[in-house]
Amino acid sequence: MLRDGGPFCNHVSARRIAYHFSAGPQNDFQRRKMTTMSHPESAIDRYNAARDYAWNYAHPPRPVTCEVPRVPGNWTFCGLKTTSPLGMPAGPLLNGDWILYYASLGFDVLTYKTVRSGYRACYPLPNLVPVRTGPLHGGELELSVAAEMPGSWAVSFGMPSQEPDVWRADVERTRRELPWDKHLNVSVVGTVQPDWSIEDLADDYARCAKWAVESGADTVEVNYSCPNVSTCDGQLYQQPADARLVTQAVREAVGQRPLIVKIGHVTTESEAAALLDALDGATALAMTNSVAATIRDADGTLLFDGQKRGICGAATFEASLAQAQLFTRLIRERGCGPRLIGVGGVSSAAHVRAYLDAGAECVHIATAAMVEPTIGLKIRAELAG
Ligand SMILES: Cc1cc2nc3c(=O)[nH]c(=O)nc-3n(C[C@H](O)[C@H](O)[C@H](O)COP(=O)(O)O)c2cc1C
Repeated sequence: MLRDGGPFCNHVSARRIAYHFSAGPQNDFQRRKMTTMSHPESAIDRYNAARDYAWNYAHPPRPVTCEVPRVPGNWTFCGLKTTSPLGMPAGPLLNGDWILYYASLGFDVLTYKTVRSGYRACYPLPNLVPVRTGPLHGGELELSVAAEMPGSWAVSFGMPSQEPDVWRADVERTRRELPWDKHLNVSVVGTVQPDWSIEDLADDYARCAKWAVESGADTVEVNYSCPNVSTCDGQLYQQPADARLVTQAVREAVGQRPLIVKIGHVTTESEAAALLDALDGATALAMTNSVAATIRDADGTLLFDGQKRGICGAATFEASLAQAQLFTRLIRERGCGPRLIGVGGVSSAAHVRAYLDAGAECVHIATAAMVEPTIGLKIRAELAG
């Protein structure tokens, strides 16, 4: 693991106030595995970008005890009560142990990394490539690799998944061990097979969603956007008629359980309106997954065989915020529509407020939380102040 005791970590530890989750007595897992963030040089575990997905899956950090600032206000996620507007989207939380770790660091909604109806290996390294770029709006064709992480990176995982038996048991255990006031959101994706129709794909999405609910997920998220995957399961958000069909099948499978649809970068009003029409079975839309671009290495070669990858992090903030504003405007004009989850480029309380002002119900953070795991605590303190 990369380790770093950042300045905020020192601030938290100086007070030495233990936070044992707000759910009352700790359960066995918490008693067994918690470490206390109490020394000035306290080591903060984080995702190791130099190692592959399998290594990070097998080396989760332990939950910590630390002061978690209270955020004044009434907060919800898909209408469920939360103690802050903060959550983490699909990606950084590879399994239940990663979820319990970030839950201990002040995040209220924890999204289980997208899972499938069968095993899928991860793409080879590099999975995370820092890029040099200003704000991205989707017209950019090519970006250059950055020597250090400037806040944005190209993400190349290909949506790996454990076998269903493995992730279902892990989701079940995670819900048991997660404090009652934290919400477990499970992200699923269908996996296209040769000769499958859209109905077959819808059934596959619905199967995964049902398994997630049966395993204890509080909410289910369907991923309709992933520029890392060249099959059509990655691009449903650009095909409203297909997206409608899949959403209806999933809604039937999950019953009344809140259903979130994760979408990609949408720029035009007509595309946004078509999606809103198609996704009327969704409780909420999470946006934006990423903005896609090709990446050129320092020696001039195009990475990933010249295929685009999703750029996540700071560079996507402006575009994602503009997208949230666009959807909010359309929903208000219609007088009804799904809730919105703001995702993309968030690393400060000001960013969180911007999404909330843009009409989002809550805000999720991936890249910045991977780079700086205590960011949830820092933002909570800023929101409280
Ligand atoms: C390492 C990593 C893995 C990701 N994997 C997924 C995934 O499996 N499913 C998904 O819907 N989004 C995935 N995403 C996209 C994030 O959920 C999020 O939409 C994106 O990172 C933008 O947020 P950020 O700017 O805070 O990183 C991933 C992102 C990262 C950084």
